Amino acid sequence: MISDLLSKKKLLSVTGLGYVGLPLALEFAKKFRVIGFDINEERIRMMQNGIDPSEELDGDSFLDTDILFTSNADDLKKAHFHIIGVPTDIDKHKVPNLKPLLAASKTVGNALKRGDYVVYESTVYPGCTEEDCLPILEEMSGLKVNEDFKLGYSPERIVPGDKIRTLTKILKIISGSDEESTQVISDVYLSILEEGIHKASSIKVAEAAKVIENTQRDINISLMNELAIIFDRIGIDTREVLQAASTKWNFHRYYPGLVGGHCISVDPFYLMHKAKQLGHDPQVIAAGRRVNDSIPNFIAKTLVQKMIGVGKNPGSTKVLVMGVTFKENVSDIRNSKVVDLIHELRGYSVKVDVVDPFASSHQLEEEYGISLLDEHHYEYDGVIVAVAHDQYVQLDESFFRSVMNENPIVFDLKGIYNNFEDLIYWRL
Ligand SMILES: NC(=O)c1ccc[n+]([C@@H]2O[C@H](COP(=O)([O-])OP(=O)(O)OC[C@H]3O[C@@H](n4cnc5c(N)ncnc54)[C@H](O)[C@@H]3O)[C@@H](O)[C@H]2O)c1
Repeated sequence: MISDLLSKKKLLSVTGLGYVGLPLALEFAKKFRVIGFDINEERIRMMQNGIDPSEELDGDSFLDTDILFTSNADDLKKAHFHIIGVPTDIDKHKVPNLKPLLAASKTVGNALKRGDYVVYESTVYPGCTEEDCLPILEEMSGLKVNEDFKLGYSPERIVPGDKIRTLTKILKIISGSDEESTQVISDVYLSILEEGIHKASSIKVAEAAKVIENTQRDINISLMNELAIIFDRIGIDTREVLQAASTKWNFHRYYPGLVGGHCISVDPFYLMHKAKQLGHDPQVIAAGRRVNDSIPNFIAKTLVQKMIGVGKNPGSTKVLVMGVTFKENVSDIRNSKVVDLIHELRGYSVKVDVVDPFASSHQLEEEYGISLLDEHHYEYDGVIVAVAHDQYVQLDESFFRSVMNENPIVFDLKGIYNNFEDLIYWRL
């Protein structure tokens, strides 16, 4: 496979060209001939013009690549090594939404030929690739795994916004449906990776490894969030406690905060779903999710209490929220918990203005019905710095004073400033 890909006798396809699929497709397209397939025609048109619709890559990333961007599923038939990187989100009941994954399996299954490979990169629960996706591939193609085609799973581990640990600089977990396929898939990925690979003993092991990476992070942050609630009641600063505790060699450094986005706050639900299917009701993972999801309410309540404490009536207060993306220096607003915080504040009749140098006002309006100001106003009763965008890290006390009225309250959710002398300062 690898020599046929290198000689361009065979083609590689990537289905689903989002945050994960596009960088992967472009990286492979520096070495191989690649078919980049996506159902979203508008996104395909942008990519054909060298634009990343997810706004992570610049135009240079498209240079010197051998790639056909297409929304015509028939083009997939030209490829022999297929990678699937479509979204795996949750529905409103917090149950895995496998629709895109199953639809993509159907599409690729239709294009499958004897000797082909299919590798999934989407984050799923252990068993999903073999129990949910494989039957569709077999049914659509009329072929049998391992006899006619091979299956694999290799989770993506990129972190949105991280410009240092990019795709090729991250060690990748590889798994295949048999020993031969694990080796072939490893060879294909090794052609672009600088940090090497870890071969998992099975597809389920690789699936589980990915989903627990994010579950572990979610639970660790939830402990910090619970501590922040306790310490707030005690009247001590959580960051100071963590700083002191971190002097012990085996204390793990995590910080409280809003846990949003499409990975850490979503993936634990995949594992919980599988556990429940098998008759185990997960306690720790569920508790972690509950605590993290309760933080927007805790922050809103605390701010309202503080405003009442200085004699303000929440219904006549105005608060500025700075930052609405799910993390710093990215434009991604998917599943941002700042949105929940804004809704919570509005629930207390607080008037909320929102600014963010990265977020798209059109997207924010369309997805959440929240309008974004180009520029902050003045006379605020409170300011919440919700996201540690670089522009915000540079601000000082005088900025906050200049945009606020009497008894100004600053909520520094990311702990990026130290105590301001002349302001009421609070951090998680
Ligand atoms: N974004 C990250 O940083 C990240 C990191 C690690 C893992 N993951 C995982 O990778 C997977 C993809 O995530 P993403 O952030 O790239 O998603 P995304 O929403 O950015 O992109 C998905 C793309 O898939 C396309 N698509 C949807 N259904 C399709 C179908 N049936 N056929 C073809 N294309 C289809 C969409 O149009 C979109 O362009 C998810 O499982 C996610 O959990 C994401």
